[in-house]
Amino acid sequence: MSVGRSHKPRFDGDTPPNGPVAEIDRTLQALESYAMVHFFEEERLMARCGYIKMKEHAQEHQDFTAQVGKVRKIFRTNPLICGPKILTYLSSWLIRHVKDSDSAAGAAILSSIKKDGNLAS
Ligand SMILES: [Fe+2]
Repeated sequence: MSVGRSHKPRFDGDTPPNGPVAEIDRTLQALESYAMVHFFEEERLMARCGYIKMKEHAQEHQDFTAQVGKVRKIFRTNPLICGPKILTYLSSWLIRHVKDSDSAAGAAILSSIKKDGNLAS
């Protein structure tokens, strides 16, 4: 094995070693899990109020979840190159999605609650 190759952070199994790469991997895994729960709840509320753009919104959620999964796999094999790209993707997606899609859905949900009452029942 060459010296350069031996310094390349890489892990091949499902369980990464300890260290900053492993910590980022666990954080991405936690983000993926949290996003799935959060998206499920958002979609439940949108469905209950009959939000007309729910299908498009849910597709954004699915695309994000799939992308995080792909990025996590890439990160595991090449964390030094991939790390900054992940941060840029995640931050820009979250800002855009919350600012545009979630704001519109939230307004529709609130409007539905004002019109029809509590959605939680
Ligand atoms: Fe959303």
